[in-house]
Amino acid sequence: MKAVLKFWFYMFNWNRIHDHLLLTTYEKQDRIEYFARRFGARTFVETGSYHGATSKHLADHVDKVITIEIDPAAAAVATQNCAEKPNITVHCGSSEEVLPQALKDVSGPTLFWLDAHYQVGMLKGSSHCPLFQELKTIFQNPQIEPIILIDDARKFIWANGWPSLMSVQRFVDKHGYGFRVSGDMICVGKFGM
Ligand SMILES: C[S@@+](CC[C@H](N)C(=O)[O-])C[C@H]1O[C@@H](n2cnc3c(N)ncnc32)[C@H](O)[C@@H]1O
Repeated sequence: MKAVLKFWFYMFNWNRIHDHLLLTTYEKQDRIEYFARRFGARTFVETGSYHGATSKHLADHVDKVITIEIDPAAAAVATQNCAEKPNITVHCGSSEEVLPQALKDVSGPTLFWLDAHYQVGMLKGSSHCPLFQELKTIFQNPQIEPIILIDDARKFIWANGWPSLMSVQRFVDKHGYGFRVSGDMICVGKFGM
């Protein structure tokens, strides 16, 4: 019992300490852009568009942007915000359902930004955290060379519907991908190959 309490106390504080290390939206976008350049991504795929700010930023650095938002109101704002960028397609729906079809015409180096995580007050898809289904869909497309960034690494503590970091690591490892945590981002890819 004492060990369990100690574990949760540690996780709680770990989460709070990391709150102070979070990047701003603009810093996050710069990092994502860095990955797009570093890995020569021609396509950017985002799950959880919100108002489309990150997709709009990345549209200047890749050929094609696909972004998926479950909340129709947010998707409508994203569509409006991204209207001036003809290389962005905004899909409205849950990432679990939309991603398989959206990836049909995608191939080559592709940067994924998986950010469709449920937050209180927001719409939820068929699961609290659609990450495993999203990863499965990506791995089922061998024509894609994915580099995958997952936001909110600090929340993967096997609580409140979030899986543990270790379970994500095991899952990607099983599919032959490397796993790193950098700040509040999880990076998945074939590093060093
Ligand atoms: C943190 S916000 C995304 C911020 C955005 N990616 C950015 O970089 O500016 C999370 C978004 O994911 C959406 N969302 C949650 N679950 C989803 C799902 N299963 N499929 C698609 N979008 C989802 C929410 O409605 C919310 O707009």
